Amino acid sequence: MGSGIAQLACRSGARTLLHDPIPDALQRGLERARDGLQKEAAKGRLAQEEAQAAIERLAAVEDLAAFAPCELVIEAVPERLDLKHDLYRQLSEIVSEECVLASNTSSLLVTAIAAGAKNPERVVGMHFFNPAPIMRLLEVVAGEQSDERALALAHATGEAMGKTVIRAKDGPGFLVNRCNRPFGLEALRLLQEGIAEIETIDRTMRVEGGFRMGPFELMDLVGIDTGLEISKSFYEQSFGEPRWRPSPIAARYVAAGRYGRKSGRGYYDYSSDPYRPPDPNHDPNPNQPGADAEARPAAGGVLERIVCQVINECAFALGEGVGSAQDIDTGMTLGLNYPRGPLAWADEIGLDHVLAVLDGLWEEYREERYRPAPALRGLVRAGRLGRTSGAGFFAYDAAP
Ligand SMILES: NC(=O)c1ccc[n+]([C@@H]2O[C@H](COP(=O)([O-])OP(=O)(O)OC[C@H]3O[C@@H](n4cnc5c(N)ncnc54)[C@H](O)[C@@H]3O)[C@@H](O)[C@H]2O)c1
Repeated sequence: MGSGIAQLACRSGARTLLHDPIPDALQRGLERARDGLQKEAAKGRLAQEEAQAAIERLAAVEDLAAFAPCELVIEAVPERLDLKHDLYRQLSEIVSEECVLASNTSSLLVTAIAAGAKNPERVVGMHFFNPAPIMRLLEVVAGEQSDERALALAHATGEAMGKTVIRAKDGPGFLVNRCNRPFGLEALRLLQEGIAEIETIDRTMRVEGGFRMGPFELMDLVGIDTGLEISKSFYEQSFGEPRWRPSPIAARYVAAGRYGRKSGRGYYDYSSDPYRPPDPNHDPNPNQPGADAEARPAAGGVLERIVCQVINECAFALGEGVGSAQDIDTGMTLGLNYPRGPLAWADEIGLDHVLAVLDGLWEEYREERYRPAPALRGLVRAGRLGRTSGAGFFAYDAAP
């Protein structure tokens, strides 16, 4: 991630210093950033002279003391709080009082990282998505003590790098990864209950929902072990939020060493190519997510259940002030390639329908996991039912 961020920084016009305590890693990072710029020039995305000028603005430094004149330091060291604390302690002694310290952490709390710095108010999150030079989104995360000056600098830097920047409040998974939790967890729940098989759930999400990958393919790609660790950290950080409870199925796969693509086997067997049959041609109609023909009828079909739980998570995030409705939808489409923003999608489906699905699930299971977000119920109560009523999560000029 560090080399990708350095590539973006020097490309944006900033003098950029790259540091890694391991000399080989530092050299590899420098070369990767330079290669990335050359590739952009070869593909015509950047003029050759601009790529050369960016390369000249980039330098590798072996000593952290070289960061003394920096206005912004973006840290992408391994995801361990002790390592990050140690680095922020050192940086606090080196850089000026004005310098902003940003972390690319994806799962630690920015607030917890900031505790390692002398002035926690200048610490913010700058969460890039992988691969950083390609993905269009940047999530700027406000820790409990981050000040507006630091947030504004991170925001402006992201825009200078060509990113679409969204703002998020600190918390498990920030905005994007938090709102996406039910995509995998609800799919695992459907499997656990025997409502549909892995292939059926994935195919439904691709063919009917328009997602590029189904939840199980995605979990195999990320690594089932990595996903389980993320689930555990969400559950621990929230002191046991039922919506974020890790799945026993994922734990069993990890115990069996079936981690996903990287181990050759996870929810799919990757020893054969292709690992799944091609999808039939089909026009998705995700505005009316109904029961899937291959799934056992239950409270809601596969697509409906997963999408409504994603919408519910987004509504909780909105209600808790984690991000704006627009930033939630932008984050999910640009950060995770969702076919559409979940809140705009909800407005199309009808918020009363989404609420009815969630209330149905609650009736059936009596589990806190399915309690509808107060923000969703509040909109329905206020008659804001979505596009047909002229307003839902968003306002519409005129009902169609
Ligand atoms: N990989 C992803 O998809 C991804 C996406 C978003 C955010 N992140 C976050 O980015 C950070 C780095 O992830 P990664 O996948 O690039 O890890 P990585 O292990 O590939 O790279 C980390 C680099 O940091 C170096 N390092 C170790 N200690 C250091 C120190 N004290 N100072 C400077 N460099 C040091 C290591 O030598 C290594 O080269 C983590 O916080 C991670 O959560 C990763």
